[in-house]
Amino acid sequence: MAETPVKWLFLILISYLALSVAVSANSIPSFKKTYIVHMDKSAMPVSFSDHLQWYSSKIKSVLISKPEKEGGDDGEDRIIYSYQNAFHGMAAQLSEEEAEKLEKEDGVVALFPETKYELHTTRSPMFLGLEPRVSTSVWSENVADHDVVVGVLDTGIWPESSSFNDTGMTPVPAHWKGTCETGRAFQKQHCNKKIVGARVFYRGYEAASGKINQQNEYKSPRDQDGHGTHTSATVAGTPVHGANLLGYADGTARGMSPGARIAAYKVCWTGGCFSSDIMSAIDTAVDDGVHVLSISLGGGVSSYYRDSLAIATFGAMEMGVFVSCSAGNGGPDPVSLTNVSPWITTVGASTMDRDFPATIKLGSGKTSTGVSLYKGRRSLLANKQYPLVYMGSNSSSPDPSSLCLEGTLDRRVVAGKIVICDRGISPRVQKGQVVKDAGGVGMILSNTAANGEELVADCHLVPAVAVGETAGKALKHYASTSTKATASLAFLGTKVGIRPSPVVAAFSSRGPNVLTLEILKPDVVAPGVNILAAWTGNLGPSSLPTDHRKVNFNILSGTSMSCPHVSGIAALLKARHPEWSPAAIKSALMTTAYIHDNTHNPLTDASADAPSDPYSHGAGHINPSRALDPGLIYDIEPRDYFEFLCTQNLSPTQLKVFGKNTDRSCQNTLASPGDLNYPAISLVFPENESISTLTVHRTVTNVGPPVSKYRAVVSPFEGAAVKVEPQTLSFTSERQKLSYKITFTTLTRPTAPEFGGLIWHDGVHRVRSPIVMTWLPPTTVCSKGVHQYHPFSI
Ligand SMILES: *[C@@H]1O[C@H](CO)[C@@H](O)[C@H](O)[C@H]1NC(C)=O
Ligand SMILES: *[C@@H]1O[C@H](CO)[C@@H](O)[C@H](O)[C@H]1NC(C)=O
Ligand SMILES: *[C@@H]1O[C@H](CO)[C@@H](O)[C@H](O)[C@H]1NC(C)=O
Repeated sequence: MAETPVKWLFLILISYLALSVAVSANSIPSFKKTYIVHMDKSAMPVSFSDHLQWYSSKIKSVLISKPEKEGGDDGEDRIIYSYQNAFHGMAAQLSEEEAEKLEKEDGVVALFPETKYELHTTRSPMFLGLEPRVSTSVWSENVADHDVVVGVLDTGIWPESSSFNDTGMTPVPAHWKGTCETGRAFQKQHCNKKIVGARVFYRGYEAASGKINQQNEYKSPRDQDGHGTHTSATVAGTPVHGANLLGYADGTARGMSPGARIAAYKVCWTGGCFSSDIMSAIDTAVDDGVHVLSISLGGGVSSYYRDSLAIATFGAMEMGVFVSCSAGNGGPDPVSLTNVSPWITTVGASTMDRDFPATIKLGSGKTSTGVSLYKGRRSLLANKQYPLVYMGSNSSSPDPSSLCLEGTLDRRVVAGKIVICDRGISPRVQKGQVVKDAGGVGMILSNTAANGEELVADCHLVPAVAVGETAGKALKHYASTSTKATASLAFLGTKVGIRPSPVVAAFSSRGPNVLTLEILKPDVVAPGVNILAAWTGNLGPSSLPTDHRKVNFNILSGTSMSCPHVSGIAALLKARHPEWSPAAIKSALMTTAYIHDNTHNPLTDASADAPSDPYSHGAGHINPSRALDPGLIYDIEPRDYFEFLCTQNLSPTQLKVFGKNTDRSCQNTLASPGDLNYPAISLVFPENESISTLTVHRTVTNVGPPVSKYRAVVSPFEGAAVKVEPQTLSFTSERQKLSYKITFTTLTRPTAPEFGGLIWHDGVHRVRSPIVMTWLPPTTVCSKGVHQYHPFSI
């Protein structure tokens, strides 16, 4: 989400208020917070006719009486949502004391305070986009994706965008139960055969932040922010010819599944996205009949049973809904992932082969290149040298003025000059505004070590060029040491065929997955840098309040942008293979992913300028046309995921959160979490050095030709010997399942993880699983292994 300063302040304010209120909560018993209460519906006494009645009687029984102020307080008023499709329970407003009492009641499985989630866009728009390099066969006319509905949990939708033009679409499928909720500037007719549903979820938001001010915010599905319009169009936007941002990235903008339908579930508001709202949206979407959920947000608590998204998406998965989530923008720091549950498809971000180059010519005669989306008189700064300044005192450690934070630039020093600003702290486009306000004529935005050479071009309000860390250092050195430093800027438009690409984005969140090392995350990477898609009519492309430009398309980056690519491709797979489970779709995406770029070298990592590894790219970059015909799939049933949870040291009560279907109890069918039939293999050798051999089991289902014979090839490892048994799998029928085991015997116990892969091939298909091997250091204090580590959470 493009953060404006006002929003930042607002967020900080909210956190501050929440903190101070929490501190005083003990002394003011009437202070209420929203709690998510998971209920065991099977424990409902027969005397109740429906669960709502039972829920409110539960609430009523714990209310602390407050005679004068809140007369007539009955349980129902406190319930803001009840959940019944993906899981059972409610969201209720309770004081801390009441919550404590309620938690002890029969039938109450668990109770968690409301948490806030964030959208996964890097904090400002960027460049490029359009069609990923996908073969056109994927879009062949005979793919009937019209019957697939993708639910997008986001900031709403801008229905007038031509990306949502429904001309030529067939009538909405009869099974669809969703609806078009109306409100300010959103009427029934704003839904059509493309936008088949639009709903709002704000009760949790209002309970935490006060009533929505309808003057400032559309209390309707209309998208004020742009993020939801962008992600929805990426999933299933109708092809629009001549789409561009200020002339950049001109071409045809289309969603990944242009025939699929969109249902917008607005859960994010100017103050954030709240878990009770998100859970209600998922619960409703499942009932509406979505086939795919696209969720470009994350946060919350990283433990399976405390993470609202994990719980709600478990329920969605049980109902056959494929769920794609963004991995987060916490990279390149390790262990920065969110949304790591194995039933979710976790999507990281990578670049495409398109760029927006710009050049910087220095007075010294040297030239640097960078990227830019600046639109204006392009030659303005190209033919004349302007004085160049850098306000930092030490070019290797940014300070407030080198970062061009608000109020730090002295007009007397920077007026009429090109200013070098370090990336970080404040939104990139805001730095441009700061330079402009101080009278600067242009800006060079320099990466620091955190971003390395990854270039993001933004829709700045001043002529601006973004440069990598190395070029930035040289420019800063020149500006700081030469008394008459000058530069000119030239903007070269859009270039395609950039090599190498894809490259894993520096911001894309990294593994390992500390919740469960045995489940490799992220699952895949997809285009998430400089993506062009539809935009709100409410905000300019920089999202700054001072930006009065109006654009139909905008260029954004983030795992928020890569997630809807996978959601859209999943919709295509679902249309082509309606019988595939969510796990089968994920398997097809993972086992066909590629790990080489367009120079035929291994994928690289933008932050390190070195080869990327599975902690950054998972199984690799999605390859939609191959995913349609993967040959074999690793299928997983809902009960297998439940068995996986049984290996995660959850208490019986914690497990009940996932046990909507009351017959669920642990059968202990999995010897270890690594035995889940996951399309990736992550081996963890325990601290105990006498355990030197580990075996995992997998079962593949034949979805290719009935009679086919696959052979195994495993990459070599230094730290372990690997043996696959059997080495060939001979199928004789469709949907036939065959199992194999793979045994790893430690040779050297390396301290760093080792990466490789297993490929089953039949001469046509290559079914690849990444392999990661980790040896826990013998001295680790936690006796039970990694499940006891405290998870990283944002
Ligand atoms: C939708 O697309 C059709 C066909 O391309 C076009 O004729 C029509 O004007 C478009 N409608 C809108 C509202 O843009
Ligand atoms: C600049 O900062 C770096 C890292 O903080 C430090 O090592 C170096 O000594 C500083 N140089 C000057 C001239 O202050
Ligand atoms: C290590 O594993 C061996 C073999 O399974 C077992 O006998 C031994 O008790 C284990 N040691 C510890 C400290 O757990």
